Amino acid sequence: MDAADVRDDLSEVLYTSDQIAERIAEVAAQIDEDYAGREVLLVGVLNGAVMVVADLQRAMKNHVQMDWMAVSSYGSGTQSSGVVRILKDLSSDLDGRHVIVVEDIIDTGLTLSYLMSNLASRNPASLEIMTMFRKPEASRMEVDVKYVGYDIPNKFVVGFGLDYDGRYRNLRDLAILSPHVYS
Ligand code: XMP
Ligand code: MG
Repeated sequence: MDAADVRDDLSEVLYTSDQIAERIAEVAAQIDEDYAGREVLLVGVLNGAVMVVADLQRAMKNHVQMDWMAVSSYGSGTQSSGVVRILKDLSSDLDGRHVIVVEDIIDTGLTLSYLMSNLASRNPASLEIMTMFRKPEASRMEVDVKYVGYDIPNKFVVGFGLDYDGRYRNLRDLAILSPHVYS
């Protein structure tokens, strides 16, 4: 598969870039209202949350700052153990800050559970989660997700920062990957 159009590999578009932008504007307005008079630090989880953080903060009217973390699950198995390794830590001190962790997608929520307890120990004034997409399984996780873009079906999706094998992040829509890509 060389130099092909990424769109040839999609079976269904779930959300168009316009729908994503519309929902991000609503979430941004809600965050502006909820945090009026308090400056938010958006903590993006690399690499998937790059597009969400970029668009979310530009849709906000309040002052806002951003920082980044990169994490990886331990081990080589296909199932997440919930134990993660920090590959890149924050540059910012969280002490007294109003932090919103920004994710592209929550599936089981195991990665996020670990991350939240790690960040909570750094003494932020407040700590919440925003995810652009959420799968049904996430309803069983014990951490609260304050802001959700869209709840989606339990299908493997790509686009708007989400990848398959490093590809498709540049697609503006959120789409289900066609089965021919896996084989
Ligand atoms: P957990 O299960 O810990 O995992 O919530 C979340 C991470 O799994 C990846 N993930 C996906 N990536 N399309 C993707 O491109 C998907 O449909 C998908 N579902 C889960 C993603 O890296 C996320 O951060
Ligand atoms: Mg990924």
